[in-house]
Amino acid sequence: MDKIIIEGKKPLSGSVPISGAKNAVLPIMTAALMGDGTSVITRVPDLRDTRTMIRLMEMVGAGCSYDKGRLEIDASTVHNPEAPYDMVKTMRASFYVLGPLLARFGKVKVSLPGGCAWGPRPVDFHLKGLEKLGAKITLESGYIIAEAKRLQGAEISFEFPSVGATGNIAMAAATAKGTTIIKNAAREPEIVQLCDYLNFMGANITGIGTTRISIDGVDQLHPSDIEVIPDRIEAGTFLMAGALMGEITVEDVNPKQLDSVLLKLKETGCQLSYTTNSVTIAPPETIQPVDMKTGVYPGFPTDLQAQWVALMTLSNGSAMITDTVYHDRFSHIPELNRFGANIKVDQNTAFVRGVDHLVGAPVMSTDIRASASLIIAGLVAKGKTEVSRIYHIDRGYEKIEDKFRSLGAVIHRINE
Ligand code: EPZ
Repeated sequence: MDKIIIEGKKPLSGSVPISGAKNAVLPIMTAALMGDGTSVITRVPDLRDTRTMIRLMEMVGAGCSYDKGRLEIDASTVHNPEAPYDMVKTMRASFYVLGPLLARFGKVKVSLPGGCAWGPRPVDFHLKGLEKLGAKITLESGYIIAEAKRLQGAEISFEFPSVGATGNIAMAAATAKGTTIIKNAAREPEIVQLCDYLNFMGANITGIGTTRISIDGVDQLHPSDIEVIPDRIEAGTFLMAGALMGEITVEDVNPKQLDSVLLKLKETGCQLSYTTNSVTIAPPETIQPVDMKTGVYPGFPTDLQAQWVALMTLSNGSAMITDTVYHDRFSHIPELNRFGANIKVDQNTAFVRGVDHLVGAPVMSTDIRASASLIIAGLVAKGKTEVSRIYHIDRGYEKIEDKFRSLGAVIHRINE
């Protein structure tokens, strides 16, 4: 298995291009299955997860060709509406094929996703929503079988503004008969772009980006092209490294999508400056401790919680960090403490007491964003850090060690 080796305390400087958003391109790829022809998606990041989704597209019968960020999906040959367990267990986002394939074929078989490093991640909102649209849902040895001759529009209200459930229901409802209203819908930019893409394909969705989405079903969607929005989580990850290690600029981003993160970074004492498509951060003398609570968009993203904890380990005080989205997303804490950080967890809150410095150590990745927090810690720690199980980080970050090296980090990958 590959490892990433870091020689810490090298100052960072310069600018880094941000890739297309993983969490936007994954549902856009499954939406393309609803168009009976070839769609072209550009700015597709080269990740384990996008390659896994390409494999899944090919398993259901679509033709895919991917080169230098450009992905062509020919959905005219889709014929096998099934997502197998070994696929879904490696990537929960495989569950996004449920809505599109049910809408297009009237029957679909998708494995229930397993749990992940931080606990069970149910899909009950997805299933209840599809039942509201008239689907018959049965569970057969770990597989969901969903059937519906033609889905019927309905009013669906989520008890929690689930990103995945909003995406799946929006895709299923796009060609249902009649109107669907989704209440308490997710407002994440990635779901906004998915709904925009469905409209490019001929859907009739309004209220996009609000908590109330209205979908007037149409008979058929056609293929469409789109360029994926920038990855705000990758951008936030690099900015937090800059807050510790030197003035850097993230390019090709949408600063407005990072409002809540930039506000918090300012409270730590960092200097921030922006253009329409870049953000520059300069670190303060000392990092002020700043409490943070994650929230659904436009709140502080849970996908940047681990990275924020890493930043707070060197603050000149104590900070409380609460995750309101995933109450047990703290598998990075024991690994960060191996660097000499001083963090305790109680329920869904991490209590970080700032220390004077971190010391490099061998540590282990447990999920995509936890790995990113370990890399940030390794960049600021004295001495050498070895991050193992980095297949986690490769799921969600494109060439992360090359990007950090281009900013001055001493970082490289070895395969064991
Ligand atoms: C998406 O996951 C992202 N993944 C996650 O990013 C992100 O952490 C999450 O949204 C929250 O922003 C992709 O977009 C591929 P949810 P998703 O449904 O859709 C509960 C990363 O690192 N819930 O909004 O699975 C759930 O347990 C990944 O890139 C139900 O109870 O998240 C959680 O507590 C990690 N029942 C909360 O809702 C359901 O049916 C939010 O989950 C669905 C969700």
